[in-house]
Amino acid sequence: MEAAELLRKYNIAAPRYTSYPTVPYWDNENFSATQWKRRLVTAYGEHKDEGISLYIHLPFCESLCTYCGCNTRITKNHGVELPYIDALLKEWEMYCALLGERPKIKEIHLGGGTPTFFSADNLKQLLETIAGASKFNDDAACSFEGHPDNTTADHLQVLYNLGFKRVSFGIQDFDPKVQFMINRYQTPEQVLKITELARSIGYQSINYDLIYGLPGQNMGGLIETINEVIALKPDRIAFYSYAHVPWIKAGQRHFTEKDIPQGDEKFALYQQGREMLVAAGYEEIGMDHFALKTDSLYIASEEGKLHRNFMGYTDQHTHILLGLGVSSISDCGTAFAQNAKTVEEYKKFILSDELAVQKGHLLSEEDLRIRRQILDLMCQSETCFVDDIPAAVVERLQPMIADRLVAIRNKEVKILPLGKSFLRNVCMAFDERLWQQQPKTQLFSAAI
Ligand SMILES: C[S@@+](CC[C@H](N)C(=O)[O-])C[C@H]1O[C@@H](n2cnc3c(N)ncnc32)[C@H](O)[C@@H]1O
Repeated sequence: MEAAELLRKYNIAAPRYTSYPTVPYWDNENFSATQWKRRLVTAYGEHKDEGISLYIHLPFCESLCTYCGCNTRITKNHGVELPYIDALLKEWEMYCALLGERPKIKEIHLGGGTPTFFSADNLKQLLETIAGASKFNDDAACSFEGHPDNTTADHLQVLYNLGFKRVSFGIQDFDPKVQFMINRYQTPEQVLKITELARSIGYQSINYDLIYGLPGQNMGGLIETINEVIALKPDRIAFYSYAHVPWIKAGQRHFTEKDIPQGDEKFALYQQGREMLVAAGYEEIGMDHFALKTDSLYIASEEGKLHRNFMGYTDQHTHILLGLGVSSISDCGTAFAQNAKTVEEYKKFILSDELAVQKGHLLSEEDLRIRRQILDLMCQSETCFVDDIPAAVVERLQPMIADRLVAIRNKEVKILPLGKSFLRNVCMAFDERLWQQQPKTQLFSAAI
């Protein structure tokens, strides 16, 4: 079947599977903060020696990027920094008290919003207090998201001194027409300058985020953007499919659907970008990601150690991920918990000495099995059943087998090269919760 035909057939609304069950399918009715704490303490008892991953959400941005699907708070008032840091530190202390000690940190990621909205001094205070006397593990993977427009030499140096060796810059697209549509500006010169600075300080892995399918994007502009990116040679590239969810993100109503490349046009942008990156020496990793062969993400993928969590792909695997801050998600292996989604609600919880957990899910035995399999597919492109493959899964996979996207052999399911672009669809065949209760309204963005 032609690529265009495959696209027409499989370009349906599909989750990105940063978790299973996916957030809209969490059973919040049967979840409580008490159960979350109980499951977390049990899991910590079993896995404390390996250390934990920590995600800290820093939601503030000075201006709205209209395409953005993340949890943000737009303000130019930097007076919000310290009160928010106080709340984060109090939340961390509550977790330490619950676990009976300061956990060893194996991975820390500052996400946003715009972490570099905060001054370098304030970030230093936050991180030094969290790390305590132990500082971060020598082998801890510490990374942060920086906006090329406001990341300073101070940010880079202060964070590097604290153990941060990885930075991710949001680029999205260099085309001025697209930048105007998404209200986000940075020139290749700015990005070159900040990249060179990060390298000279000693950062070992520099990632750029790019998006295909943005309003106003066209083939010529995308080719230029990818050429600029290749010339700057970041170690990793996330080449995301634009997730259009205007029913959730009002900012995306600043442009209309007519402005967005969709279907064949959007897929062609992805194919073009992918071909150019591969020709420039990047290896495609899982879904949406590319890395040079020297980068730890590629090495982890070659060694079968790639992992995926709410932060996306990572080369670290810990059983426990604690998310601090507004809207952050935590995962203890057997349960998920998400914090309140507005800064006010989040602070209200914390000020009343309560964890800010507002929703979550306790994983059943079946959830755990399916979760393992979806992770295998996302990270290793194959999975194996202990018993026979359930008839319902085989039936759902049939069209994809006929179209050479996947192959089944005995108890194994393997993604074929053509299927790489349709990973989300393959995972959907395993998603029992979705099949048991088909959504009545659109919950997810399109697969491509
Ligand atoms: C939370 S943002 C952080 C970026 C950082 N604050 C900055 O401004 O450079 C993380 C990344 O998510 C991606 N992203 C955000 N909204 C998206 C959407 N609607 N569709 C696809 N990717 C999106 C962007 O590539 C973005 O760089």
